[in-house]
Amino acid sequence: MPLDINGQTKLVGLIGYPVKHSLSPAMHNSAFAALNLNWCYVPLPVLPERLGEAVAGLRALNFVGANVTVPHKGAVMSYLDRVTPEAQAIGAANTIVVREGQGELIGYNTDWRGFLTALSEGGFDPQGERAVVLGAGGAARAVVYALAQAGAQVTVLNRTPTRAQALVQDFASLFPSMSLLSLPFTLQTLEERAAEAHLLVNTTPVGMWPEVDRSLWPEDLAFPNHLSVFDLVYNPRQTKLLRQARRAGVKVIGGLGMLVHQGAAAFELWTGEKAPVETMYEAASKTLRIAS
Ligand code: ATR
Repeated sequence: MPLDINGQTKLVGLIGYPVKHSLSPAMHNSAFAALNLNWCYVPLPVLPERLGEAVAGLRALNFVGANVTVPHKGAVMSYLDRVTPEAQAIGAANTIVVREGQGELIGYNTDWRGFLTALSEGGFDPQGERAVVLGAGGAARAVVYALAQAGAQVTVLNRTPTRAQALVQDFASLFPSMSLLSLPFTLQTLEERAAEAHLLVNTTPVGMWPEVDRSLWPEDLAFPNHLSVFDLVYNPRQTKLLRQARRAGVKVIGGLGMLVHQGAAAFELWTGEKAPVETMYEAASKTLRIAS
């Protein structure tokens, strides 16, 4: 929990709507306490029509920075002074740094790095491997960017095929030598693509609480045992998809690691200190347990 707040406490926060159930305040405040930093991370519920004012407020109120979450990650970019090439390519900024003295607002995307770190922590090296990504929304963009950066071959399967096409088209020019393909999500494409892949990533909200009995993997389809599975959903920790994969004896990675590592990367951008990842992990897990 935060240290005593006094006249020198530095502020960061989370801009989103809603932010009530976020794990980030607990995660970051525990990290500040662990490093004895006089910092505090506060929830900042912001309606879409107030986003510009809220971002300008960070500068006016001398915040050191902020995280940005649903539904503002894309829209926030137009209120920033500049964004990194990664955030530009992904089309979303989840972290803002307010540069000291100048008040310049810089947008970063730490989701893609969080995904790669969690993947590597889970023992999977994507270099040269075939990956199937389910979904083509904002989260999928960070994941596809990360996988392409890491040298994987990616097929995006999405319920709305045009959305997957648009995603792949955007990245094709950025990664001209990478194999990127989009297909409609059907039982046939899932079965065929998974059969020759090494990694399956669910970026859709399917399986998230309270719909814990849902999974995009059909009950009657055997799980290929050469497939590792990463589910971005972290509530519950063990999604139905991960349970199905486990039964087949394959390696599974839950979404909490990505959340923690995107947070750790943001923490390091703001503080310049190495993030206490274990502390952040424990705080996030504990808050999730209490919430569920
Ligand atoms: P996020 O920013 O978290 O990625 P999003 O932009 O709303 O959220 O994207 C959600 C993704 O999950 C989309 O690809 C969506 O498919 P559509 O593009 O067809 O809407 C996918 N998705 C959501 N619910 C789904 C479901 N029941 N079955 C299959 N895909 C689903």
